[in-house]
Amino acid sequence: MNNPVVIVGSYNQDLTWYCSEFPQPGETIFGSFVTGPGGKGSNQAVAAVRTGVGTTFVGAVGKDVFGDGVKVFYDLEGLEYQLMEYDDIPTGNAGIFVSSSGENEIIVALGANLAFKSKDVREETLSHAQIVVCQNEIDLDTTRQVLRRARSLGATTVLNPAPMIPGFRSEYLKDVDILIPNETEFAELIKATRPEALGSFQSADIRDMDEDELQKLCRSAEVPTVILTLGSKGCFVSTADSYRTIPGCRGIEVVDTTGAGDAFVGGFASGMVQFDKNIYKAASYANAVAALSVTQPGTAPSMPHKEEIENFINR
Ligand code: ATP
Ligand code: RIB
Repeated sequence: MNNPVVIVGSYNQDLTWYCSEFPQPGETIFGSFVTGPGGKGSNQAVAAVRTGVGTTFVGAVGKDVFGDGVKVFYDLEGLEYQLMEYDDIPTGNAGIFVSSSGENEIIVALGANLAFKSKDVREETLSHAQIVVCQNEIDLDTTRQVLRRARSLGATTVLNPAPMIPGFRSEYLKDVDILIPNETEFAELIKATRPEALGSFQSADIRDMDEDELQKLCRSAEVPTVILTLGSKGCFVSTADSYRTIPGCRGIEVVDTTGAGDAFVGGFASGMVQFDKNIYKAASYANAVAALSVTQPGTAPSMPHKEEIENFINR
């Protein structure tokens, strides 16, 4: 498994209900249902491998029907994987409601994702990686140790702090080269790690900040590069000596935004390999991958393929 992109993180079986409007507490409504592969780590790995860049996913499942199904899916996708399998812990799963306006509500039961440790991740897999990506759906200490090992072996480390979870501390950022949060995650992360920097700003205020204010806030995270995803507005890239908003792609029909953040992160990891670690080019490519993903329903199944991305960029 000598791939340039390595994603260490979660697999969840997504159970998705589409409805016209979310049910109120105590209300029963009718909708339609699909199930498929999900989990932030796995989705990001699928997004990356569909761009044509060699990708390895490292994660964990239970020995159950969901855990069996995902191996078939990965083989079909050409995604190399290293999966820990547990007899007594179920595969992670997510209940997702999607309304007709494309918004979502999600409950995740992490199951096996929480069980695997850094020692389960093979040295050989990390040592060949150019980019190693983690999220917040596995044990925080596992993530921290994997990022530390990956960096010491020469890889560029990426943390997508999604979802932001209680107990997240500044030490978890120590071995992160590139941090990719959305606006809410970023506000919560700064509140948890550098509260003095947030001052009176609240999450909603991030949307109203100009680029100079955003840059100041991003620098307070003390991570070399921060890429803040901004939904339809694209993303804001902040490095120590430059910053810029890369506008989102226009002219698309939004069907389901679930997994847009994952498409962005997977697309970014691939872009870093394709564009010789040029962060701005990789972020621009990630915007295109993510925009295409919101035009399709589902999470992993909505990730676009290489040819579609190239046609979209050249349109
Ligand atoms: P989700 O939780 O829905 O997966 P997120 O909140 O983690 O998403 P967002 O910042 O909403 O992440 O979106 C990630 C990226 O997806 C954006 O940076 C952008 O590139 C793309 N994107 C999202 N929504 C749109 C849209 N309506 N039009 C174009 N691009 C979009
Ligand atoms: O980001 C979307 C993912 O979040 C879903 O696939 C679900 O499994 C949850 O982990």
